[in-house]
Amino acid sequence: MQVLGIDIGGTGIKGAVVETETGEIVRERIRVDTPHPATPEAITSEFCRLVREGFRWEGPVACGFPARVLHGVVQTASNIDPSWVETPVEEMFSKALGRKVHVANDADVAGLAELRLGAARGVRGPVLFLTIGTGIGSAIFLDGRLYPNTELGHLRFHGDIAERYCSAAVRERLELKWGKWGERLNDYLAYLEFLLAPELIILGGGASKRFEKYQERLTIHTPVVPAKTLNLAGIIGAALYGAEQH
Ligand code: BGC
Repeated sequence: MQVLGIDIGGTGIKGAVVETETGEIVRERIRVDTPHPATPEAITSEFCRLVREGFRWEGPVACGFPARVLHGVVQTASNIDPSWVETPVEEMFSKALGRKVHVANDADVAGLAELRLGAARGVRGPVLFLTIGTGIGSAIFLDGRLYPNTELGHLRFHGDIAERYCSAAVRERLELKWGKWGERLNDYLAYLEFLLAPELIILGGGASKRFEKYQERLTIHTPVVPAKTLNLAGIIGAALYGAEQH
């Protein structure tokens, strides 16, 4: 089936129509800036504009959203406006678009893309997927099943939370060289390795495209690989998630 997958991020909103059997992009990716302030009204209207005017799409739509989303309701707001907390995002998007839209945490759906079609496919035991962009999102899979909404980017780390120590946005803001940033990331991954003892760690988000720039700084024991679907994991995963809700 074909689903329009939309990845809502702290910086950009990206979408593409995806053939969910194969993960193939059948209608090209479109990106618009996330409105600021990123309020529920502003994001909902940008979302509808992208579906109706950008894609002129009448088929199924599903979204990854950068917050904890429980039963369609937003629980946290880190890189989006605080007024999102307790907003029923699924209902809001569905009403505005006039048909059902499925919404889940962006890292959970991106991880799903890697589970079905990428580096986590067929891996037994615990697998940790991280998406590294404006924030850090996490998804944990055990023998192919998701433990949702884990938010490991918000673990206390070096006196703050982890995503404020080693997200891609931090690398840019502090103008860190890839190697220096890789050391920070390794530090955080070592902590996650200690907590979870995963079989494999998969990195998604913008930083996954530049993996070779910091790979040698990742010295933990657990194998670390970039997402096979690279930074398209969020879009492809949203579409797969939508298809699985039907
Ligand atoms: C949010 C997560 C999200 C991650 C990546 C974090 O700030 O709390 O829910 O998965 O950013 O977008």
